[in-house]
Amino acid sequence: MNLVLMGLPGAGKGTQAEKIVEKYKIPHISTGDMFRAAIKEGTELGLQAKSYMDRGDLVPDEVTIGIVRERLSKDDCQNGFLLDGFPRTVAQAEALETLLQQLNRSIDYVINIEVDKNILMERLTGRRICKECGATYHLVFNPPAKAGVCDKCGGELYQRADDNEATVANRLEVNMKQAQPLLDFYAAKGYLRNINGQQHIDQVFADICELLGGLK
Ligand code: AP5
Ligand code: ZN
Repeated sequence: MNLVLMGLPGAGKGTQAEKIVEKYKIPHISTGDMFRAAIKEGTELGLQAKSYMDRGDLVPDEVTIGIVRERLSKDDCQNGFLLDGFPRTVAQAEALETLLQQLNRSIDYVINIEVDKNILMERLTGRRICKECGATYHLVFNPPAKAGVCDKCGGELYQRADDNEATVANRLEVNMKQAQPLLDFYAAKGYLRNINGQQHIDQVFADICELLGGLK
């Protein structure tokens, strides 16, 4: 099962990815998570990515494509993968096509989670994430049982550095510019499937599972 998860910042990619990889046992490849891990570890990649992420701009294509190429070539991707937040530009999508051809693979579906842009600011500024296991919560839409504490592992919840209003506004603008050409690219290839992301989290997941039901 070779999947790409698309959607504007806050559409619910990370939330659904957690559920998809648990059910279908495929690796979750999130470029955002990879960059954040590199920043935390203070690596060269982290240094390259940090200034772009702090502003809410995209990290340059050559850097991003390089890390995905390396990751997809690992053994655990042999039986499938879930790409989350990549590709985000047509250049990245073209590079992914070339890479998958080299690996003799192809995408099954590009799942596009559709959400009206007007509700994304509230989703992102209210998001909280577990420091230990990475589980995602929302102060209003998906609160933990005990404030500030992860239901799954008891870890402490934190707010992402780029989830402040000014950076979110730029992230939305930057990503909206890139989204349509990318959707057109995948629609033309026949991979694109739209999912209504403005339903309850469990219903969004049920719709995705229905779509994936026919796949191995
Ligand atoms: P990345 O980490 O990928 O962030 P993003 O695309 O901005 O997406 P988010 O993680 O913010 O949102 P999400 O869709 O996962 O939403 P979530 O499920 O958490 O990228 C960060 C940065 O890295 C970029 O700005 C860029 O600089 C760089 N980068 C990454 N990839 C790159 C690439 N390919 N090229 C170049 N640069 C790249 O949900 C949000 C909130 O809503 C949560 O609180 C959740 O609980 C809540 N929620 C989710 N679903 C629902 C629902 N159905 N109803 C109500 N609330 C919901
Ligand atoms: Zn946790």
